[in-house]
Amino acid sequence: MIDKLKALQAEAAGAVAGAATLAALDDLRIHYLGRKGAVTGCLRDMGKLSAAERPAVGKAANEVKDAIEAVLAARGEALQRSERGARFAAEAVDVTRPGRRSHRGGLHPVTLVLREMLDLFVGMGYAVADGPEVETEYYNFEALNIPAHHPARDMQDTFYVAPGVVLRTHTSPVQVRVMETTRPPVKIVAPGKVYRCDADITHSPMFHQVEGLLVDEGVTFADLKGMLTAFLHSYYGPDTGVRFRPSYFPFTEPSAEVDIQCVLCGGSGCRICSGTGWLEILGCGMVDPAVYGFVGYDPERYQGFAFGMGVERIAMLKYGIGDIRLFYENDARFLSHFS
Ligand code: DAH
Repeated sequence: MIDKLKALQAEAAGAVAGAATLAALDDLRIHYLGRKGAVTGCLRDMGKLSAAERPAVGKAANEVKDAIEAVLAARGEALQRSERGARFAAEAVDVTRPGRRSHRGGLHPVTLVLREMLDLFVGMGYAVADGPEVETEYYNFEALNIPAHHPARDMQDTFYVAPGVVLRTHTSPVQVRVMETTRPPVKIVAPGKVYRCDADITHSPMFHQVEGLLVDEGVTFADLKGMLTAFLHSYYGPDTGVRFRPSYFPFTEPSAEVDIQCVLCGGSGCRICSGTGWLEILGCGMVDPAVYGFVGYDPERYQGFAFGMGVERIAMLKYGIGDIRLFYENDARFLSHFS
């Protein structure tokens, strides 16, 4: 009996050493020490022994039981340690790796360019004014000396909201609204959205303009020319060529369009400037006395000039952007160039 027990102890020690998982170890515990286990079976058979044999066998059985329990415990601890080690290795976080960057937003290029433009005008003493985007035909056309059926109404494809009500096609109506409510001297710029039924790579149904108006005594075309030249030199650089070309607008007389030397070729002629060396950048002129009639200004006493320019166009020429639609698609790759 004692030999059988010793053999069981040796067998158990070998099996425990070979157990690869805690679950396998549990099976071995049941196999040797469980209620129907091998060692337990030996203890039960002790009833068949003589009273003389019993103490020695009982002692040996208890020793074998203790020994098997000890190897089970030692192996269990070792397995637990290595299983925990493996789990920790799998869950490990490398705290020395760089963190994820958060993306930083920025102002839209139209906003940035508009602010830069306004800064320059405010620096020259202009106040900032605004007016409604849904405008009456009276302010958008009539009071700007563009009567119904005037061919100039066809120059701008107008969105009608209701009879007599339009989405403003330019910021020029703000001129009329400001003059109606203030006496000269007037010196304002009016930025804002304007709308025209037109869409291609250089036209958008909505775009931005900056309007300017200065009315006072003794204002001449030379003042207009000097001020706009200073503005364009500040914005595009002091060596940029600027020229004034006679033109026509119903609300100014005389009128001019202003060109800057081509930002791409510097004036030698290229694809952007269609070989002319010049790029049209804005419209301007001396306020037509007919407009003063609508706002009750005395045309004998006051003279003034006005100008209007497209913000997207100013930005496209500054940054060499070939397609106006880029401003409205909100592609982060485009926008991030400006933030
Ligand atoms: N309103 C004109 C347009 O949208 C631009 C313009 C031209 C504005 C001459 C002016 C001006 O104030 O004097 O095409």
